[in-house]
Amino acid sequence: MKNFKPKAWMLPQPVLIIGTYNADGSPNAMNAAWGGQWDVNEIMISMGAHATTENLNRCKDFTVGFATVDTLVASDYVGIVSAKTHPDKIANTGWRATKGENVEAPVFDCFPMTMECRIKEKLYESESGYYIIAEIVNIVCDERFLAEDGKPDVEKMRLITFDPVHNGYVALGERVGNAFSDGKELK
Ligand SMILES: Cc1cc2nc3c(=O)[nH]c(=O)nc-3n(C[C@H](O)[C@H](O)[C@H](O)COP(=O)(O)O)c2cc1C
Repeated sequence: MKNFKPKAWMLPQPVLIIGTYNADGSPNAMNAAWGGQWDVNEIMISMGAHATTENLNRCKDFTVGFATVDTLVASDYVGIVSAKTHPDKIANTGWRATKGENVEAPVFDCFPMTMECRIKEKLYESESGYYIIAEIVNIVCDERFLAEDGKPDVEKMRLITFDPVHNGYVALGERVGNAFSDGKELK
């Protein structure tokens, strides 16, 4: 076994696309890997100081799209370019945005699944950002990505994860087991 100093190497990390509205009402998006489930109907995101942060200071609503192989290039782009300096940021992605039905935030139609969220709490707020705890208000899933039981089918989505070790994106593979079940073999 080789040892490494502490690093932000939690694995696997998601590729979350945070959608908000700029002050002029135009949609914005940014990439966030440091986020996850916080509680039953709540998520958390570690938010730096971005245009998105300013948007969230004006309005508590945002969306979380889950990036895919098909949206990879534009998803990375929104993570390296700021709306502060690039007003044409979303136009360059080619993404089409409609207003979320339940939140004041854009839903981008290129993502198979999107969460509509509302900030509940900001933790450790400072000039460099804060940790968001947000309520999941609603989840929208493109019908093409539903399983036979009518629920979202993760395998169909071709989601990507962020590899913080080599700064890569890795495609999620196929289902290999049954949670809360396969382990029973060893009971
Ligand atoms: C792979 C990747 C992961 C990122 N993760 C985060 C994150 O978890 N939190 C964060 O504040 N910024 C994160 N960023 C940086 C923002 O996405 C980036 O600064 C973006 O340009 C902000 O856009 P905005 O200023 O238009 O809001 C990440 C960027 C990339 C490429």
